[in-house]
Amino acid sequence: MCGIIGVLGSSEAAPRILTGLKRLEYRGYDSAGIATISDGTLDRRRAPGKLTNLETALSTTPLNGTGGIGHTRWATHGVPNETNAHPHATHRVAVVHNGIIENYAELRQELEAKGVVFESVTDAEVCPQLITHYLETENCTPVEAFRKAIERMRGAFAFAAIFSGEDDLMICGRKGSPLAIGRGDGEMYLGSDAYSLAPFTNRIIYLEEGDWAVIKREKLEIFDEAGNPVSRPETVSSASQGLVDKDGHRHFMAKEIHEQPEVIAHTISRYIDGTSKTINLPNGAFDFAKLDRLTISACGTAYYAGLVAKYWFERWARLPIEIDVASELRYRDVPWTKDGGALFITQSGETADTLSALREARKNGQQIASVVNVPESSIARESDIVFPMAAGPEIGVASTKAFTCQLAALACIAIAAGRQRGTLSAEEESELVSGLLEIPRLVAEALKQSDKIETIARDIAKATGIFYIGRGVSYPMALEGALKLKEISYLHAEGYASGELKHGPIALIDENLPIAVIAPVDAHFEKTVSNMQEVMARDGKALLISCKDGIARAGEKTWANIETPKSHPLLSPIVYAVPIQLLAYFTATTKGTDVDQPRNLAKSVTVE
Ligand code: F6R
Repeated sequence: MCGIIGVLGSSEAAPRILTGLKRLEYRGYDSAGIATISDGTLDRRRAPGKLTNLETALSTTPLNGTGGIGHTRWATHGVPNETNAHPHATHRVAVVHNGIIENYAELRQELEAKGVVFESVTDAEVCPQLITHYLETENCTPVEAFRKAIERMRGAFAFAAIFSGEDDLMICGRKGSPLAIGRGDGEMYLGSDAYSLAPFTNRIIYLEEGDWAVIKREKLEIFDEAGNPVSRPETVSSASQGLVDKDGHRHFMAKEIHEQPEVIAHTISRYIDGTSKTINLPNGAFDFAKLDRLTISACGTAYYAGLVAKYWFERWARLPIEIDVASELRYRDVPWTKDGGALFITQSGETADTLSALREARKNGQQIASVVNVPESSIARESDIVFPMAAGPEIGVASTKAFTCQLAALACIAIAAGRQRGTLSAEEESELVSGLLEIPRLVAEALKQSDKIETIARDIAKATGIFYIGRGVSYPMALEGALKLKEISYLHAEGYASGELKHGPIALIDENLPIAVIAPVDAHFEKTVSNMQEVMARDGKALLISCKDGIARAGEKTWANIETPKSHPLLSPIVYAVPIQLLAYFTATTKGTDVDQPRNLAKSVTVE
């Protein structure tokens, strides 16, 4: 997984590549590197850690040349040190790689048996070594050597290569991982996405599966997997040139949490007719009346949004739902139905597991829809229908506003499904739409608890861990609460269905392991509170997250309470997302972790 960029330009390439890499750091920040070609000679700089380290290295020893490639890494094979950083190079070629070469061990063995000496322990290094082998032992041209090498490799990947002695040549190819080519005036670029190329051009050509391309400043040739020349459409990208800033907040995550009232309002305005209090889906959306099943799939936080939506589709549309994390769905032997639809949820639209699950569903005849934040992403482009969410760029690795916008969009879709299937009356639709229209205000209200939550978080930060529990639509929120907290504060956290606690996990409860109870006053309130009492009876510290009424009814003997505004009970997850995000955020700031770029993670996970 990683981000790659390439420039064949008319001015110094390294600073421009650095600009592009800054826009790709969401794909990994374990190490970074740049290789350039100048007067036929390859040179490179690499540095472990964040991009700033590479920037420092370049300021002391700059790279010359108007052509080059760059890389930001999320480590898969080999620790994130300088030796394992890309570009990997020999004296003939430098290569950047995104993805995983599954048969790298056997290729490496084969080359080592022929005397090739490897520098790193990465899977990626087999690519330059293999290319060099074909260049030297079979006298291949760079194009022939690249093609032969790519044909030998199995897995999901995108590559870009530059060659010694070739100042006007860049070759790239993709299988599984995305790759976009940008066209400029007498310049050419390539990147993992259009966003990374936005400072240079908006003229974008997306390579298709198996494509590879030979790029010169004035000429672009694209070939399909079989080697036939093909032409791919040039699109005008709307990716913004500007870099998003923190707008006065300490972290992007804080900014994004506070943006939620606005972006949720934008999202629902894409679906709701405020006058008639009805939902309109985009043209060409599923005919829900004809669907016999809807399969929902996603990863991480987006999967939890899908889990909440399962309750909505079942309740409002009486639609059978199959839901699984994408990395499992893809490899299960799912008995797909004839009239099934499949719905994928993703902020980035580039998550490899989700993309693979989508392709599996398509292979099995399902109509494909997605809820995607990045409209030009791979998943958006491969979907029959894209349901918009208007979260705007999300930079913090921990998903916050994308999650609530996913929920807002999914609520609209599920309500529309209910109307189409005749299981939701016009009055019920109007009541739910009114409930949704209230949400931005309620989310703004929930944000006012920030100071109180910060105080509570100071204690949570001292705990050995924390459990979250919830029932019904609050169960996925318990899972999300735990995920958010663990990923940015590194504190152990687990989410459970309230009723499950007594079947095992309660054994871990003691005064050092508090339990956060997500309990809106809904049909399950009393049952959830009983589960909280079971914890308190064992000296467990309970943090009750509920509305004023809920706290008055059950919050007297708890360790702490967080008051959260009352909403339509089934829509409560969108509001309750706020306290769990703030709790995670302040626990992390108390512990002093890297909130926006937590260790071991990347914003977009483009390997399986
Ligand atoms: C957690 C988080 C991840 C993502 C997951 C899917 O805060 O952000 O769990 O939700 O990696 O990413 P997308 O939505 O880009 O497919």
